[in-house]
Amino acid sequence: MSTSLELDEKKLPQHIAIIMDGNGRWAQSRGLMRLMGHKAGVKTVQLIVKAAREIGIPVLTLYAFSSENWKRPATEVSGLMTLLKNYLESELISMLDNNIRLRCIGRKENLPGEIRETLETSIARTAASTGLVLNLALSYGSRDEIVGAAREMAELCLAGKLRPEEITEQSFAGRLYTAGLPDPDLIIRTGGEFRLSNFLLWQASYAEIFITETHWPDFTRKDFVAAIATFQKRQRRFGKTGDQVNGN
Ligand code: FPP
Repeated sequence: MSTSLELDEKKLPQHIAIIMDGNGRWAQSRGLMRLMGHKAGVKTVQLIVKAAREIGIPVLTLYAFSSENWKRPATEVSGLMTLLKNYLESELISMLDNNIRLRCIGRKENLPGEIRETLETSIARTAASTGLVLNLALSYGSRDEIVGAAREMAELCLAGKLRPEEITEQSFAGRLYTAGLPDPDLIIRTGGEFRLSNFLLWQASYAEIFITETHWPDFTRKDFVAAIATFQKRQRRFGKTGDQVNGN
């Protein structure tokens, strides 16, 4: 595959998380309804899932709907839910054919019943896949996730099933929606804003962040490869000095 040739296969990010921003602006700049931007965004989702799989990225998380997105106009929310349902229904066979395992992070219980069922079915049907983990963030909010984990552990302590000293970074991470997944190495944000918007705040501690002005519907496989190539050129120090990392 020509576009992946420039990548060092030994230094691929193990988990890429994407804030797919700019759908609304993409549509509005063309005189279209915002929902048309989200519709175009679904095509980019298909393109980038395929690229991630072909490049050999183990985990791809897509921020598809935040806990704050419920505050958007009802027509936009219901339009997004319909797009999501159609996507899940139309992609199930392709996910199975391509060994993709679907996961979800967020408050699934807040999703409309029909979508929750479609989602649960796709998650169950793809559970045995061993290739790309496609992790959709739906009704997801990172603070809510962290508070939920803290509450669970407090309840276990009160019930005498957990000692406070057993609360460690590792055990805490095991109570987050992302339990069992590696932390994201690379977070890509399209649409040019410089913020995390309540996305993977705990998990992003050492993530490299790549921001592009390109709106999500215009984001291409080439842009995705370029983001990974940029990641591969960065020196990740995890608190150490550059010399330590280089073994000097
Ligand atoms: C942010 O753009 C994007 C969203 C809130 C929704 C993202 C959804 C999709 C790409 C489609 C559905 C997803 C899947 C997985 C099928 P924005 O609307 O905030 O853009 P703006 O900042 O330009 O207004």
